[in-house]
Amino acid sequence: MKRDFLDLSSLSREELNGLLALGARLKAELKIGLEHPYLRGRTLAMVFQKPSLRTRVTFETGMAQLGGHAIYLAPNDIGIGERESVKDVARNISRAVDLIMIRTFSHETAVELAREASVPVINGLTDLLHPCQLLADLMTLQERFGRDLRKVRVAFVGDGFNLAQSWIEAAALAGFELRLASPKGYEPDKDFMKRLRNEEIGTITDDPAEAVKDADVVYTDTWTSMGREKEAVQRRRDFKGFQVNDALMKNARKGAIVMHCLPAHRGEEITDDVIDGPRSVVLDQAENRLHAQKAVMVWLIRPEILQTTSPSPE
Ligand code: CP
Ligand code: NVA
Repeated sequence: MKRDFLDLSSLSREELNGLLALGARLKAELKIGLEHPYLRGRTLAMVFQKPSLRTRVTFETGMAQLGGHAIYLAPNDIGIGERESVKDVARNISRAVDLIMIRTFSHETAVELAREASVPVINGLTDLLHPCQLLADLMTLQERFGRDLRKVRVAFVGDGFNLAQSWIEAAALAGFELRLASPKGYEPDKDFMKRLRNEEIGTITDDPAEAVKDADVVYTDTWTSMGREKEAVQRRRDFKGFQVNDALMKNARKGAIVMHCLPAHRGEEITDDVIDGPRSVVLDQAENRLHAQKAVMVWLIRPEILQTTSPSPE
């Protein structure tokens, strides 16, 4: 049966570790010029209903490095769900390509595409989740803190939207502590909060300083996500006090790192000093999108390669 990559919670902990190990191996091989054309002759269709820099560039580059090919379908190209139903798009492109990546609004669209497609589907961001970003972020954490992530304390400061919700999934799967600070009215989806509490992996507060206290990692995301632009003015008011700046970082542990999925709105959710400062790992995160997604694509098309990858010694 085919697998998809729509969320992290469908993965076992072994699969997560396998993907992270494969991503690290592909990264190390690339750095020494070792080619790994595992997907020679394969094609990825990339369906975008929202803009992107990192997701498009890293999927397209990743596919080229794996010996395959990627097709970019811009928001107005195929009109998924408008010009043609999700089901018809899924069934048609499944006859031509080996893999589909979708960036869309409703998570249900990605789920329906995966249900109707005969080839694996990857979630390249929905309003609910951004699992590709999280895989790259966990890879970045392992590079900084070692393979066992259970000791790491993560604080997420900002909108309880797709990124925060993906962190909740990641904490549940990898078993680390997560503290979320969101303004009232911007908390994550209730089901996600329930899962957070049930698994006793973290807390939610509306006090950023409390969330960041003794954290190893301080993460933030834009206050106004794609599709919410009309709310930008109101959101700037509502998120006042939730900026990641030097004063907030004083609450974190010595040696704490700062993460952001990007794009950043400098001067809003994060200051220039912090995002460009020595604690920031945002460019490592952006780079790791490439390696982590290559691992996902290899796993979905050639799962045997994941099984034969064991983590390198620390
Ligand atoms: N972080 C991220 O997904 O970036 P893009 O929106 O530029 O793809
Ligand atoms: N929350 C942001 C993430 C961008 C990568 C958005 O959905 O626009």
